[in-house]
Amino acid sequence: MAESSSDLRRRRWWRSTTTRVLAGVATVAATATVLVTAPGADAAASTLGAAAAQSGRYFGTAIAAGRLSNSAYTTIAAREFNMVTPENEMKPDATEPNQNQFNFSAGDQVYNWAVSHGSRVRGHTLAWHGQQPGWMQNMGGSALRSAMINHIQKVMGHYQGKLAYWDVVNEAFNEDGSRRQSNLQGTGNDWIEVAFKTARAADPSVKLCYNDYNIDNWSYGKTQGVYRMVQDFKSRGVPIDCVGLQAHFTGGSSVPGNFQQTISSFAALGVDVALTEVDVTNSNTSQYSALTQACVNVARCVGITVWGVRDSDSWRSNESPLLFDGNGNKKAAYNSVLNVLNSAGPGPTTTPTTPTTTPTDTTTPTTTPTTPGGGSCTATLSAGQSWGDRYNLNVSVSGSSSWTVTMNVPSPERISTTWNINATWPSSQVLIATPNGSGNNWGVTIMTNGNRTWPSVSCSAS
Ligand code: XIL
Repeated sequence: MAESSSDLRRRRWWRSTTTRVLAGVATVAATATVLVTAPGADAAASTLGAAAAQSGRYFGTAIAAGRLSNSAYTTIAAREFNMVTPENEMKPDATEPNQNQFNFSAGDQVYNWAVSHGSRVRGHTLAWHGQQPGWMQNMGGSALRSAMINHIQKVMGHYQGKLAYWDVVNEAFNEDGSRRQSNLQGTGNDWIEVAFKTARAADPSVKLCYNDYNIDNWSYGKTQGVYRMVQDFKSRGVPIDCVGLQAHFTGGSSVPGNFQQTISSFAALGVDVALTEVDVTNSNTSQYSALTQACVNVARCVGITVWGVRDSDSWRSNESPLLFDGNGNKKAAYNSVLNVLNSAGPGPTTTPTTPTTTPTDTTTPTTTPTTPGGGSCTATLSAGQSWGDRYNLNVSVSGSSSWTVTMNVPSPERISTTWNINATWPSSQVLIATPNGSGNNWGVTIMTNGNRTWPSVSCSAS
């Protein structure tokens, strides 16, 4: 359901109230009449990732290792996106070229690039009829079943604790909602649930997804087939956390009128939903707006990933389906997506939370004159939106425009997203932030993992 204007007002009130309380100026109720919203708190974000983060969502892209040496490509990718899917580098043919000999070099290259640019990573994909190595294509029966289990265990073991989502199984259904015939299906109808159970045991920290195309139209046979499988898994306790709608609106397909109903119906089963491989023929702006709106209208639609950066990077480049043209210019569809994200309703579990601060929240405005010969600076934290599993912090730096802020997040909390900074990560608990040209107000999303103690920050100026 779309966020109403009263919800929006309530959310703004919550943000500004929280900031005021934490700034220590809340005294009597009368101060409410002179409320001033924190700088930038309601300003429209100017990148896709930052705009999506305002509602606790992400905006991602597929990244190809082979393009990481192209600075026009990496400049856009680093600036705009906060979720990365390796386009081909974590598929079975890439990670296990010979049976039980694993190669993670290209996957690691994409992973390392992503996290060093403040992005999270979606693993793609573990069990699929496509892009299997030759040895696997020729396999069947119990040997293949064992090889699939071993593949999942080894690849997930390598990335254990590092990824946000894994597409455990990809494209296992026919258009009529029956199971696709493949060598994996030939090992027995239970192969999908075996894959998910194996995956949960291999890495309990990552969300496990089923991913497919042509499951966008609620009244389509394939959509119903996948829906029934997820419903069955949930009812029997087979681990599954998310459904990925590839949402390739290319090659003749387009956004169906009931797209939001499909997203909300999957979400109602108790799984996250994501649009995982979006592209649209000739980047039709109304289709891009509609698919973005459908996602942000559903609280549990956690993010959108477009399948490439520029049209020239697309697997369907002849349809010019992405948000940047071949020269790296923003297309009209970019602005339509950004505008929808900027007006988005709450994300997962974002029912506007009680406007009080959690008792364990602590502010730690820190002034650290450091750097010999340099000036001093102060990094001040204020609360952003808060959800059941995570919260946003706004960071405002004063005293210098050439600063380095180090943020230490107490374990088990983890930073999942940042905006308006260049980010480097000495470890998953430490963030080093420097200006990226967006000014001195930036922010982070922190996954609580059960703990809501604010991070400590120190600032050094140069
Ligand atoms: C595509 C890649 O974009 C191409 O580079 C590759 O040649 C083939 O695969 N569904 C998926 C993706 O799940 O992995 C596919 O990616 C596109 C369709």
